[in-house]
Amino acid sequence: MFRKVATAALGGLLVAAALTACGGADESGSGNDDGKLTMGFAQVGAESGWRTANTKSVQEAAAAAGIELKFSDAQQKQENQIKAIRSYIAQKVDVIAFSPVVETGWDQVLKEAKDAKIPVILTDRAVDSKDTSLYKTFIGSDFVLEGKKAGEWLVKEYQGKSDTVNIVELQGTTGSAPANDRKSGFADVIKADPKFKVIASQTGEFTRAKGKEVMEAFLKANPKIDVLYAHNDDMGLGAIEAIEAAGKKPGVDIKIITVDAVKDGMTALAAGKINFIVECSPLLGPQLMDLAKKVVAGETVPQRVLTEETTFTPEQAKAVLPERKY
Ligand code: AHR
Repeated sequence: MFRKVATAALGGLLVAAALTACGGADESGSGNDDGKLTMGFAQVGAESGWRTANTKSVQEAAAAAGIELKFSDAQQKQENQIKAIRSYIAQKVDVIAFSPVVETGWDQVLKEAKDAKIPVILTDRAVDSKDTSLYKTFIGSDFVLEGKKAGEWLVKEYQGKSDTVNIVELQGTTGSAPANDRKSGFADVIKADPKFKVIASQTGEFTRAKGKEVMEAFLKANPKIDVLYAHNDDMGLGAIEAIEAAGKKPGVDIKIITVDAVKDGMTALAAGKINFIVECSPLLGPQLMDLAKKVVAGETVPQRVLTEETTFTPEQAKAVLPERKY
């Protein structure tokens, strides 16, 4: 039976402004009295096109599954996510799902959820915790593999050439699983050939504005940049603006690899401004709602649910763009 909610003693815990209800959640902040399953979802933020598509997928899937969704946007701050999770515990939701902004520092709040007997599902990003009993399952991509795919394309692209290849890297949010894993997966593949040199690597926080700003600095400090590896499309798109402003041709003078494959990224790929995109799917909503129903019903679910993904060249982008949903 789904947990019925008593009056929630939110006190100072609830960051009212950061919490917005979706799917008919009750304005008082107390939970659901009509027998519907209630999910508290603590989102990372709205930093990228990927994130916007992910939020839409979660909200639409909750509505379609008849799940009441309490949604919060942490604006890329761990403390906001922790506050939101605590408020969901206080509201006695049936299940908590969240996409951890960074990998570490979650054990305490996850223990609080466990003590309150509220199951937790990790979506999109993992936590770095030894205690896997703190969450029921993790649904999302293999970010290390994404980094490897980016590296493999590069190795193939420069096969048979011996000149040094100067690479600059725009990393995602510092401490986040996708930034850590995409960096290490890529590095693992290119390290086999010393001609590949990462001459600068800095965070662009997964945003277009920061990607542009950091790329401007890279261009000023480094006269010869051959390749840009950006951990997401948005940073790559910001960097393209900086490259064009510097009088260079993105995709030609500087080869560009990104991750995500959102519509704007695919459009730039089709136009030849990006050379290769590794897909990371944001459409996690329907599977998440399925898993939520199962864990609340006490069914066993796999500890890890992997998202299926592909890669795109400019030709492939042209072919799929008309059907691209996000
Ligand atoms: O965690 C997934 C990553 O977060 C996406 O690749 C990026 O665009 C987003 O901000």
